[in-house]
Amino acid sequence: MSEISTPSYAGKQWWKEAVVYQVYPRSFADANGDGIGDLKGITAKLPYLQKLGINVIWLSPVFDSPNVDNGYDISDYFAIMGDFGTMEDFDELLETAHNHGIKILMDLVANHTSDQHPWFVQSKSSRENPYRDYYIWKDPKGFEEDGTPIPPNNWASEFGGSAWEWDENTQQFYLHIFFKEQPDLNWENPRVREDLYSMVRWWLDKGVDGFRLDAINIISKPEGYPDDPDTDFEKHTSSIPFVIAHGTMVHPWMKELNAQSFGRYDVMTVGETSQTSPEDAKLWAGYDAGELQMIFHFDHMGVDTDPEGSLGGKWSYAPYKLSELKRILNAWQTELEGNAWGSLYWNNHDQPRVVSRFGNDSPQWRVKSAKQLATTLHFMQGTPYIYQGEELGMTNVRFESIDEYRDGDSIRFYQDMHVERGNLSHEDAMRAIYIKGRDNARTPMHWDASAHAGFSFGKDVQPWISVNPNFAEINADAALADENSIFYHYQQLVSLRRGELKDLMVYGSFKPLDVEDEQVYAYERVGGAEGTDASQSLLVISNFSEQELERHYEALEQAREAGASVELVHSNYADDQGATLRPYEAKVYRISR
Ligand code: GLC
Ligand code: CA
Repeated sequence: MSEISTPSYAGKQWWKEAVVYQVYPRSFADANGDGIGDLKGITAKLPYLQKLGINVIWLSPVFDSPNVDNGYDISDYFAIMGDFGTMEDFDELLETAHNHGIKILMDLVANHTSDQHPWFVQSKSSRENPYRDYYIWKDPKGFEEDGTPIPPNNWASEFGGSAWEWDENTQQFYLHIFFKEQPDLNWENPRVREDLYSMVRWWLDKGVDGFRLDAINIISKPEGYPDDPDTDFEKHTSSIPFVIAHGTMVHPWMKELNAQSFGRYDVMTVGETSQTSPEDAKLWAGYDAGELQMIFHFDHMGVDTDPEGSLGGKWSYAPYKLSELKRILNAWQTELEGNAWGSLYWNNHDQPRVVSRFGNDSPQWRVKSAKQLATTLHFMQGTPYIYQGEELGMTNVRFESIDEYRDGDSIRFYQDMHVERGNLSHEDAMRAIYIKGRDNARTPMHWDASAHAGFSFGKDVQPWISVNPNFAEINADAALADENSIFYHYQQLVSLRRGELKDLMVYGSFKPLDVEDEQVYAYERVGGAEGTDASQSLLVISNFSEQELERHYEALEQAREAGASVELVHSNYADDQGATLRPYEAKVYRISR
């Protein structure tokens, strides 16, 4: 028997030292003027990304798709969505990116496909079709008196309503954890897994540099399909039923996927894993687990949600406490260290804009606050991800009418809670969407102050989603012309991490300070681990408040008493006022003993 060697992800690795930029293709740059971002648009903006300094792009899905969930419903894994261009355009993007020293991660959506995928079309056609078992079909639990079939269990779709859709023709339900146009694949079927693995290899052989694995923790459904104790159809949940978040086969299948595909290549993988604890992360991204290199956890994304709230899932907003945000992020830092690798993110295409969410997007403080948030995150351990426009301090958007929204999740929330059920007024439904809706992140990228923010030149064409009206002030052109812009702050963070401070920023030990402080986030990164210089450390101090504060840190005082050199290496203010912290001030000292 030949031995299968599991790759170890311990020690220094290029993907630990990388900085990733997420591109949401539909909203990034429109090269042909039809109002929709495209691959040629991305290729044209590579010099901009190179200037920012990132070296990896995570590309949200560009595969062929009827676009019910903006490409997260794939109908052909081997073709490019017409809106985005052609396979030649993709090859050009990949090659040009590589020439700019930028790698590309694809978005692997393998929990489900589109209902237009030929597998599902076949599967649905009859119970005897050879593709029937590619998806999850179940008999009804019974029938109501009026003959309405009762779903096999009470699971709710992430986007509202039952997760089961009745098929009249074959008299069974199929499972869809997301929209009904996104049927869940049946990973229990070895043919499904083989087809998926060979598709992954096809892309790797093409030269892509890795994958972000969409909703990957829910591919294994719990045995017996038990009811979920938390389901409440009066709410619009927007969270995966807990019972399906941790199926028993998920780790064996991840090891299999790794062994049969990316484990054989020098590439990078990151799993999207909701409801995952630091303990679970060691199973997913443990250095010797043979699964993924890192995961996205969601714990800090729940910090401003009221679990008892009446709207369900993410929609019930509650202001966050800094001590709680710190407790979560600090726990992930300290528990993973030495065991597993993590990712760092404030934003993605499913989340509101961070400066509006955890910061202050008022004209007076937006710039300071966006920089302060960036510094807080980028000095932690893990691979940082920047979401398009974050480097400009783009903000949440408030469209007046629900008709201007494109995100099906927000639209269904509005209908479920307001229009159909009347549980909420129009104003309150919109307020929830302003705070948590996914379109906050999906309005077009602001390139300049011209029409459509320079996203699209199409004169008579409207972009697929309206531009945030604040683009005249917040845009890439303006940022590049201002040496104090948020862009250059991010550029400096990336350059410190990939250059001068690489060892400490990537590999230094994380030491939390003053965990109860409700206004300041402070921590140290201490050298010594992974062959880094033990005489060096970093002290990160970040004022989350609008107040001027006074704070003294022992680490600093001790270092000065011991005659160590203390040098300010990064700040969002022009000078240093020692123990006085100005509003949203973030600064970093290097201490050399
Ligand atoms: C992930 C994606 C999200 C998508 C869902 C279904 O959560 O990030 O955008 O709607 O999976 O594919
Ligand atoms: Ca276009």
